[in-house]
Amino acid sequence: MKKTILITGAGTGIGKDAAFALALRGHRVLATTQTEAQSDVLRIEATNRNVVLEIFKLDITLEADREAIAAYPIDVLLNNAGMGESGSLAEVDMQRVRQIFEVNLFATLALTQVALRGMIAREKGTVLFVSSIAGRVPMPFLMPYSMSKFALSAAGAGLRAEMDQLKKNIQIALIEPGAIHTGFNQAMTNSKYQWMNASSYFAHQAEAMKKKERATFKFLEARSTQGIVNQIVKAAEASRPKLRYVSPWIQGFGIRLARIFGV
Ligand SMILES: NC(=O)c1ccc[n+]([C@@H]2O[C@H](COP(=O)([O-])OP(=O)(O)OC[C@H]3O[C@@H](n4cnc5c(N)ncnc54)[C@H](OP(=O)(O)O)[C@@H]3O)[C@@H](O)[C@H]2O)c1
Repeated sequence: MKKTILITGAGTGIGKDAAFALALRGHRVLATTQTEAQSDVLRIEATNRNVVLEIFKLDITLEADREAIAAYPIDVLLNNAGMGESGSLAEVDMQRVRQIFEVNLFATLALTQVALRGMIAREKGTVLFVSSIAGRVPMPFLMPYSMSKFALSAAGAGLRAEMDQLKKNIQIALIEPGAIHTGFNQAMTNSKYQWMNASSYFAHQAEAMKKKERATFKFLEARSTQGIVNQIVKAAEASRPKLRYVSPWIQGFGIRLARIFGV
């Protein structure tokens, strides 16, 4: 059955690749981007690839943008938009922590509430939250991000139980990517060097940290989004999605082991 699927943060990375994949499977895809400029670029790419996407600007932190989605009969909301932030919890500015929670958690939930109004009235719908395996085990020096994804995963699991109890055929699932090369991890790990200075507790380790981060992500990152996009397609099309969809599976397995051994 063809569905109307709204994707946030669809101008780049996983969101963009999911938008094309879902449209090629015949779904009506509302591919939204944080800025008008990103919408313009995406429109050109969709035209060049001969793929039909309905593209418009949706900054999830803006209430007016969020309310505008009430006009669409959304079957699936893919909450993909997200930001990264790194640095030690011992010294990171709390404003940065608040900002990442604003985007990754509060704005995402506020948008979900708008979509749920229509879904509950129509008695069908699926909400997918793109969380992270960083929401399963704490990631030192990525904790602003890791904490925001812990909160998002908890929110998704809790909302799933609530919607089950409501019995209005509303499905909730978590998409949990491992490290995938989209540029996101590099931007996130670098963010702390914008403010870490000579007075940082970790100033003397900064060069070694940068080297280790580069090597770690080079080793860990999947080179393509294909695996996680396949999981998104499965979750979006399922009549009863599982709670969690993880890719690459080997990273999901590593996270399970880490939890068993008490990380
Ligand atoms: N890549 C990974 O290894 C990985 C691993 C686990 C989870 N994830 C999650 O996967 C999702 C997609 O990440 P990605 O790797 O594809 O990176 P990405 O290309 O940076 O995608 C994130 C998208 O979200 C957009 N965005 C940020 N703030 C927004 C806002 N207020 N309103 C609307 N859109 C906003 C970004 O726009 P701008 O470009 O304008 O900032 C960007 O297009 C994120 O939720 C991320 O946390 C990624």
